Amino acid sequence: MPSSNTVWHEPTVTPERREALNRHRAVALWFTGLSGAGKSTVAHALEERLHQMGCRTYVFDGDNVRHGLCADLGFSREDRAENLRRISEMVKLFNQAGVIALTAFISPFAEDRHRVRDTIGAGNFIEVFCNTPLAVCEQRDVKGLYQKARNGEIPDFTGISSPYEVPEAADVVLDTGSDSIEDCVEQVIRYLVDRKLVSVPDRVVGG
Ligand code: ADX
Repeated sequence: MPSSNTVWHEPTVTPERREALNRHRAVALWFTGLSGAGKSTVAHALEERLHQMGCRTYVFDGDNVRHGLCADLGFSREDRAENLRRISEMVKLFNQAGVIALTAFISPFAEDRHRVRDTIGAGNFIEVFCNTPLAVCEQRDVKGLYQKARNGEIPDFTGISSPYEVPEAADVVLDTGSDSIEDCVEQVIRYLVDRKLVSVPDRVVGG
């Protein structure tokens, strides 16, 4: 609960003024999908493209955040909810600072994703579902975690011993199991440009 002795201070430099200065909207691209689905890979490739288009960006990555901000959290139902609560509050601040936030968290529970959307604000929240089938993720097994989960060495592993609830109305659905990274990036860029959230500059910058 907020302390009763704190007072909210309204800034004169508003998020809208920062967006006008940056010449792009500061939205949240919330990637969700199984471990190994390609969330981080596509998020970083997309960030590269947006940066070259002159956008201010930042990627929040599940594995990285769990080394710092959320190092005290595990993978129980409660800990996953708290993980996403902290990230969504952070993303909201980044959006207010004028930054496009890209997040790569499994975020397996619909209830948590809905809460995230409420925190960030529906107008700023873009849900990107990385739709790689479990069999493909398990075959890739980049980190060797699926094998360990199958051997019973990792409890509550998403897709094996803990559920992944497929988003019912994702804003963007990527076939990360079959499409190339470039195609997936292109699809999200098209979504952003079509809705005038970002614009294509005359020349490539910051490359
Ligand atoms: S989330 O459920 O809270 O959104 P998050 O994206 O932060 O998960 O972390 C997922 C990453 O943690 C996976 O990519 C994997 O590397 C690692 N991990 C370790 N244990 C588990 C587990 N039990 N379930 C899922 N991922 C796990």
